[in-house]
Order: sequence, then structure tokens, then C-alpha cells
Amino acid sequence: MITIQQSATSHKAQFNYDNFVFGIQPTDHIFLCEYQSGEWLSPRIVPYHNLTISPLAMCLHYGQTVFEGMKAFRQKNGRVIIFRPEKHYERLSRSLERMCMPQIEQNMFMDALQTLIQMEQHWIPDDKDISLYIRPFIIATEPRIGIKVSQEYLFGIVCTPMGLYYPEPVSVKVETQYVRAAEGGVGYAKCGGNYGAAFYPTLQAQKQGFEQVIWTDAQTHECIEEAGTMNIMIVMENKLITPCLSSTILDGVTRDSILQIGRDMGLQVEERKIKYSEIIQAFQEDKHLEIFGAGTAAVISPVKCIHIEGTDYFPYIAKDAQMYALKQQLENIRKGIAPDLYHWNYAI
Ligand code: COI
Repeated sequence: MITIQQSATSHKAQFNYDNFVFGIQPTDHIFLCEYQSGEWLSPRIVPYHNLTISPLAMCLHYGQTVFEGMKAFRQKNGRVIIFRPEKHYERLSRSLERMCMPQIEQNMFMDALQTLIQMEQHWIPDDKDISLYIRPFIIATEPRIGIKVSQEYLFGIVCTPMGLYYPEPVSVKVETQYVRAAEGGVGYAKCGGNYGAAFYPTLQAQKQGFEQVIWTDAQTHECIEEAGTMNIMIVMENKLITPCLSSTILDGVTRDSILQIGRDMGLQVEERKIKYSEIIQAFQEDKHLEIFGAGTAAVISPVKCIHIEGTDYFPYIAKDAQMYALKQQLENIRKGIAPDLYHWNYAI
């Protein structure tokens, strides 16, 4: 049973929906719950506040942290839905398992989510393309120095308004020196370390003028994997191609949704290894080639330039590109404009 303490005031009136930086403004409430002595205790929604943890808390030293990222949308009829929360829950469970953290019961997760979004839904405007980004997180809080699995955890959920993560098409560099994830590692888990470890190579690429890197496999550096903030997808002629899932690739919910939409739109879908040499060859043969990132935050972000082994290539990004039709259909489903054939929208 979730206890609720309403905030006396809302910060919404001071929030400028026309000019804001993503990820800075929390909504008015936070969900919190602690794990102690083998059980999750005191689930509650309270006014948003800073957390107090011990400097010895194990998450600060050994990286036992996982998180999720999902979104709530206001539909055309004014109702609010959360997009595919069950699929996010499944991924969260896999991340928790890999990081030796306690599972969260699906009922508790869905209850927390639903109650919090019911309270915060007024943050989603009905006249703008702005959704509510939802960030569940679990951190190890046992105050103890020593390499071992923590016995105590904190589970929190915060929300923040979101527009476009990448407002413009992005330039990316195929990374063939540094590695994000190796087979058998934690690449498929949404754990904090995967992101921290990506900063250094990403900053190097940014100094060269690229927004993101596309990681290659750790063994051969020949196959593209993902971009860290999003999965990578390609439209080549009439095919929608993306790297197959493995222990090194995040099982993106947007990736999965776009593959289904692609099938429904008559594209031939291929989940398989993609050598970057195949991309170079397609450019050389002047094939129709679209490249885009797919992610909860990124939605569909067109790639306008891909840098491979010293050469810039320019995928197709004109208005009639197939990726915009895929994106439009995803948005139509979320907004209640197109039928929700697969029950992706979770009404709150
Ligand atoms: C997401 O897409 O939800 C992420 O966690 C990636 C980050 C760029 C916000």
C-alpha cells in the first residue's frame, strides 16, 4: 500500500515549457521505497526532495545502480498513457538480476508508476509536443566499505518534462578504438556504469564535431552495436535492419516498437550483425540508405553524417525518408490517433 503526502505547492507555474533544458526540472513528487532485511518497505509518494545517503553507501563506490527511462503522453482525447511500462519492467528485472540487486514485484512497480503519474499528469501540456520522462532508479545504500553485494537499497521514481532530446539530425562517429561492452559483460543492462564508461570516448568524438559514437563489437571492431543513448537502425532499400540483441546491446523499447511498426508497414525486417564495411559498400553503390537512432529519449533521431575510419558519409534524410513515416506511426499510436494493436498504451 503506497502512502501519499501531497506537496503543498506545485513548481509547474514557474516552468517555461517554451524554453527548457531536459532533465533539470523535477515534477512535484517522488516515489520512494527502501529495501532492508530482505523486503521492500514503506512505499510512499512524497514531495520531491533531495536524498540523504551515507558517504559509505555502496552505490557510491561499487556502482550497484540500475535505472529505467520511459515516457507518459497526453493523447488527443486528453487522457494520459504510459508507453509500454511492462516491457520496461521486464528490462529492469534483467538489469537488477545482472547487478545482483533485489527484484521488485511487478504489482508494486506498476502501482508506483500509475499513482505517481496520476499525480503528475497535469505537467503534460495538451497543446505542445511535450511528454513526461519517467526515471525509476535503484541504488545500493548499505553503508559499508568492502566489495560485496549490498544488503540495502533505495528504489525511487522521478519525472521531468521532455521535448526533443536531439532537436536536429545528428553526426556520429563509428568508434573502433574504445569499447562500450564486451560479450558476457553488462552491456544489455541499464546500469549506471555503462553510461559513465562511455563519457570519455564520447567527449573525444564531440571534440571532433560528432554528437555521439556508434560502438563496435569489442572482439573485431567490425560490427556496429548501438549508440549508447539509442539503438541504431538502418533503412537500406526496402529493408529495416538493426543489430541483433546480445549481451552487449540494450533491448530498447523504441527499437522493438519500430521493428513491429516496420513489419506492419511492409518493410523487410532484419535483426543481424551489421559490419560497417557493408554500410561503406552501400554508400559506394549509391543505395538508398537511411540511418537513425531509436530510443525512449531520442525517439527517432536521423543521422545526417556517419564518420567511418576517417571518411564522412551522408545518409538520406530528406522529408520522404522512411524513418519519418515510422516515427509518425509511433507517435500516432501513442497519441491515440492510430489503433493500438499491440496494447502498448497503458492508461492511467
Ligand atoms: C533513455 O532513452 O531513456 C535513456 O536513458 C537515454 C538517455 C539519453 C536519457
